[in-house]
Amino acid sequence: MTTTVRVRAHARCAAPRIARAKGRCRSRAPPPQSAGADVVDAVDSGEHDIEIAERPDHWRTIDGFYARADGLRDALVATHGDVRRVKAERFCWDYWHVENQYTLLRTPAEDYFGREAYVELEEALLKYAREELGCSGITPVWMSAYVHSMRQELHADVPHGPWAFVLSLTDWDNRKFSGGETQIMRPERLNYWKNFDATEVVERGQILETIEPKFNRLTVFDPRLPHGVTEVFGEKDLLKGRIVLHGWFTDPLPSFSGALTEEMASEALGESLEALYARLTELPRASGMVCAALTVAPSGDVKKLRWTCDTLTPVPMPELPSETDIRDAIMLDIASALLETKFPQTNGESTITLPFCFE
Ligand SMILES: [Fe+2]
Repeated sequence: MTTTVRVRAHARCAAPRIARAKGRCRSRAPPPQSAGADVVDAVDSGEHDIEIAERPDHWRTIDGFYARADGLRDALVATHGDVRRVKAERFCWDYWHVENQYTLLRTPAEDYFGREAYVELEEALLKYAREELGCSGITPVWMSAYVHSMRQELHADVPHGPWAFVLSLTDWDNRKFSGGETQIMRPERLNYWKNFDATEVVERGQILETIEPKFNRLTVFDPRLPHGVTEVFGEKDLLKGRIVLHGWFTDPLPSFSGALTEEMASEALGESLEALYARLTELPRASGMVCAALTVAPSGDVKKLRWTCDTLTPVPMPELPSETDIRDAIMLDIASALLETKFPQTNGESTITLPFCFE
């Protein structure tokens, strides 16, 4: 199996198929806002409790992400710490200005930190992308710096990849500036009148999620949502400003680790997915992606299913059931098909991560 699991469900079936799916929806958990994920446990009886979040989860933060972040920060300090000392590396910055939209400094991270440090960084990011986001690729990582008056106004990154990331090298706790946070539009505000409540306060915090770029915090978000960077105010020293590494995770693909190889798993998985795709095409349209990590026992049985990420968003249409019901129907079908797959026997446990992309 070498291609992305890609499904285009279309609006033929108005009724959700929860009753038909083997499994039962145990509860509606609120969407996790950080690295948490929903867990589906397979039970010997063949009936599974399946937990599906009521809403998708379009962003997450992982604090203390990179073990070598201090080394990258040290390299910044070595280059920029003594402002009177001329160093060739200081000449690398591109001043990027787009009227009323973007103003920042940027440079390719590989050029700045060197090949060896860059490869280590890229490997850490890609490991996380494969295991948690179902992505096998990454764009070249850039580093951006923001000092006084620099910002990004709201925009969407389309098309780039299913996930954008920002890894902060900012000395956030000692900052003297205001601003510099990542802002992401809350998806419910994109359906403004549908979700309008005349009794509710609507201010910046209710419209935009604000994420501080704390040192070594990885922020991962759905780049289809409008997002930006609030204006940095009050700091002119680059080293003391907002400094982040950023890029996009791309190429959703299944990944395999442990005893079960892709070649060994492909026949059983192929049969399950073929039947699953046929069922999914009967369901209403959706966009985004959902990714399932399977723990496969040496016997070949699936022991556990964990949703590692979920931006699955049904395309709203008035004649269809609620978006939550449609999510339930799609994710229950996926979970049922995967939990019932019988893989070949091996001599050890395995993990298979499977992304399902809807467009
Ligand atoms: Fe962006």
